[in-house]
Amino acid sequence: MVELQVRRSMAAATALLAEAGITSARTDAELLAAHVLGVPRSGLMLATAMTRAQAERYEALLFRRAARVPLQHLVGAAPFRGLEVAVGPGVFIPRPETELLVEWGIGALPAGATVVDLCSGSGAIALAVASERPDTTVHAVELDASAATWLARNTSGTAVSVVCGDATSADALADLDGLVDLVLCNPPYVPAGTPVEPEVADHDPGRAVFAGADGLDVIRGIVARAASLLRLGGRLAIEHDASHGDAVVRLLTEDGRYEEAMDHVDLAGRSRFATAVRGSGPGRGLADLQS
Ligand SMILES: C[S@@+](CC[C@H](N)C(=O)[O-])C[C@H]1O[C@@H](n2cnc3c(N)ncnc32)[C@H](O)[C@@H]1O
Repeated sequence: MVELQVRRSMAAATALLAEAGITSARTDAELLAAHVLGVPRSGLMLATAMTRAQAERYEALLFRRAARVPLQHLVGAAPFRGLEVAVGPGVFIPRPETELLVEWGIGALPAGATVVDLCSGSGAIALAVASERPDTTVHAVELDASAATWLARNTSGTAVSVVCGDATSADALADLDGLVDLVLCNPPYVPAGTPVEPEVADHDPGRAVFAGADGLDVIRGIVARAASLLRLGGRLAIEHDASHGDAVVRLLTEDGRYEEAMDHVDLAGRSRFATAVRGSGPGRGLADLQS
């Protein structure tokens, strides 16, 4: 058996990925090595050698990563709040920043709450809520057929129930109107034409990323739909583009059915998501409320 020194091959791998413009070159080189060796990243400290077969596999994965295939597609999963969510072509890769939205949502959630994840993609948000708060009932809505296949796969065997449909339509979970305690949503929100990294442009589905000229097309529909789903006092959180904090708070306020609309920043001070509480105002959607 021919063996390759892990440390030596990882140094070369890091250089290859850095040359391809990958800023997280060392991390990616380590995560791919750990994947090939079948150990957690922390286990690399103890790994001294790769077999020839492992080295060949590692090299093949490195070349694909250098071609800007997302790391998560190569290893087949993305970490999200302690879970491993299966991902691949046809579904958006969950991002660590979305964990903040979940953190806010499950804080102060009443026992036995009904929770809805709109624009669910892989189901990362729904799965995290269901796993961290098993007392809740969680519903997930996704429009895209390919993403819905991943969603069905990831939620199979869990308590999350799935609907394939337009989350902005009055038909989506219509039987839950006025009954939902919490709506969480990470919708597409990038303005059309915005330059994005090759991993996003070539591998995240366009429908998962872009949302019209100003990036707010889907958010407008979600603000309206969530107001119908929520019970009085129920809460909504929507992730948005860093430049859209004021715009989303304005949409929530102008709807007329929300109170306490506010924006939230991450630890770096970057505007990340907006929240609001369902108030008693009839809002602009009076007909919607009376139907
Ligand atoms: C940014 S991705 C987020 C996926 C997942 N929530 C997450 O955080 O990883 C947005 C998702 O919304 C879906 N989507 C776009 N428009 C939609 C709509 N009108 N109704 C339901 N889902 C929609 C896309 O297909 C995509 O899966």
